[in-house]
Parts: sequence; C-alpha cells; structure tokens
Amino acid sequence: MRSRQEYDGAIDTLREVGRRARVYASMPLIEGVTPRALMEATGGKESEDPSGLRRKDGIFRLDEIGLSPLDHVALYGDAVFEGILIRNRSIFLYKQHMDRLDRSLEKVDIQMPISRQEITERLLDTCQAVDLPDGVGYIRLVVTRGMGDLGINPAKCITPTVFAIVSTIRLYSKAAYEKGIPLGLSRRVRRPNQAILDPNIKSNNYLNNVLALQEGTKAPGVVESLMLTTEGFVAEATVDNIFSVVRHDGWENDPSKVEIHTPSSEYCLMGITRETVLGLARKRGYRVAARDDMLPIDLVGPGKECFMTGTGAGVMPITHIEAVAVGNGQPGSVTMGLVQDINAMMEDRSNGLPLDTTKEELAAIA
Ligand SMILES: Cc1ncc(COP(=O)(O)O)c(C=O)c1O
Repeated sequence: MRSRQEYDGAIDTLREVGRRARVYASMPLIEGVTPRALMEATGGKESEDPSGLRRKDGIFRLDEIGLSPLDHVALYGDAVFEGILIRNRSIFLYKQHMDRLDRSLEKVDIQMPISRQEITERLLDTCQAVDLPDGVGYIRLVVTRGMGDLGINPAKCITPTVFAIVSTIRLYSKAAYEKGIPLGLSRRVRRPNQAILDPNIKSNNYLNNVLALQEGTKAPGVVESLMLTTEGFVAEATVDNIFSVVRHDGWENDPSKVEIHTPSSEYCLMGITRETVLGLARKRGYRVAARDDMLPIDLVGPGKECFMTGTGAGVMPITHIEAVAVGNGQPGSVTMGLVQDINAMMEDRSNGLPLDTTKEELAAIA
C-alpha cells in the first residue's frame, strides 16, 4: 500500500482535472436508476433514441455526474472508446477517430444512439466549456453497452450510455522528445491475438495492458512497456504503436535506403497516429513495411532507430529496450524528422475540427 504522501501528486492532478474538466453525458431515463443529476438536469437535450427510450444529455462538472454502477462498462469493461487530442484549438484527426469508433462499435455490436452530427455538436459545446491552456486538451469519448442486470449478457442491457470527458492532458515533456525514453518489456503478460480479443476493438477492457505495464515498468524511469504476441513477436506498447527504423548504407542521401518496420495490424491496434506517421514516412521517400515476425532483438543494436506513436505521445523516440541500446542510445535523425512532421501537422488546424466550427458549418461538412 502506498503512503498518503505518495498520493499527493496524484491528488493534485485530480484537483486540477476537477477544476477544468467537463463531462458530456447522455443516458436513457430510467427512474430510480439513471443518476439523478441527469434526471433533474436542466439545459440538456431530451430525445427519443433508436430503441424508443427517452434519453437526455447534459454537460456537467466532474463532481456533478456519475455513471450508474449497473452500466456494463463499470461491471465488465463492456464499452468502446476513443482518445482524441486537441491541438491549437482544433480536434486533431477528428473524422479518423470517429470512423474508428464506428468500426469498434460494429465489432462489438453496440449501436450508437446519437447521430454523428449531434454528438459532434455536443462535443464542441463541451470543449467550449473547458479552459484549455495553449489550446491543448484531450477528449475521452466512451460508448458503453449500457445499464443492465448483474449478469454479463449484453442482450439484457438497455440502450448505450455515451459520455465524453474533455480535459487537459499530461503530455511527455519537451526534454523527453529531445532525449528519448527507454521502454520496458512485458515478458509474461502478452498481447492477446484476434481469436481472444481483437486488438482492433478499442474497448475499455484494458486489464491486460494494465498488467503488462505494471510488469514492464518496474525499473526506475521506465513509463511504457513493449508487449509481445503469445508467439513472442513484437506487438505494440501498452498504449502506443512501435516502429523500427533500419538505415542501410547511403541512407543519409537516399531516403529509399531507410526502412520503417511496424507490426502488422493483426498484432496491434491500428493507431490513428500509426497510420499518420506511415503516411509521413512514405512522403519522405522511406520504405514502409508491416511485419508479423519482428522480435525484440530486431529493435535494438547499431544502425537502428526506434520510436513509438500514440495520441498522447505523438512520435516518441525510444533509446533502449529494457537496458539494451537502440543505435547509440540517442534519438536518431529519421525519428526526429518524423517528430517535426507530426508536430507541424498537429499545429495545422485544418487537419482537425476547429473548436469554433459553427453548427451551420458542421451541417455542411456532414
Ligand atoms: C493498445 C494501443 N495501441 C496503440 C495506441 C495508439 O493509437 P492512437 O495513435 O490512435 O492513439 C493506443 C492508444 O490508445 C492503444 O491503446
């Protein structure tokens, strides 16, 4: 058990989140079950959802609203989600995230109860209610199986709960991008394959990743860990995709001598950042390959670079896997070029949905 003092940092963070964050919540109205804050809320929208149930939404402070303990996201992690970055007051790659959400929903057979246009309007309203320092923030959008009885059967759940937290985000420091970070290795806890849990269902069931992170980050200063498939091939990090850069002779003057390898999407989540960075790499003239036979040893050693990608991390240089150096143990220039490229993309508001998009403009886009 950690001591009270050790919790201090976490408590300060929570207070800060509580001060700024706002939550959008949309639930069916079931007397005696739906959180009263929503039942009694004024100013939200009431509608009939595709199931015919009356539902209501609202925008709340974190201490005003709660989920029902009977929601199957709380009981079983039965839900899907997206984590989306706000940069320069624009929701970065919003369409790509919403399209992936739709794919996850389809895979778990949850029907989104709100139209894309309506959820987008309400997300923008929620973002407007949050003070985002430097225009940077984060949206966690969750669609759950909904409220049901204490059994696991999704057929007994009623229409989904939708909620979104809009908050500030703790990003890696500037120094981390300059120096890179080491990755741990989860030796025992493995990434389940498609037959066990499809990595491309972005579900709220993260216990496997949590255990892998716990196992792989025991060394001081290690904050992310590499996961392997059950066969021992490289899959992904616990919340990030992984890439190896192989530089062949003459790479400095000829981009076709640079190869970027990343595990195939059967082994990992098709990260939005992964897809974006593969596009940026191709634009630079690098050769790109998705592989299903990468071993941890392929990531390390001379002539190599390694990086990971994710919504929160962007492109993060990796300097060591466990204690073994990648290249000379410093971020390489191919990686640093991609860090620059993605930063430029994130700063460009036209790559996302600007927070000041009007409802009329939205209707024209949809
Ligand atoms: C398991 C896993 N892999 C990869 C990623 C990176 O995906 P994205 O770039 O879409 O954030 C995430 C992000 O949540 C993740 O949870």
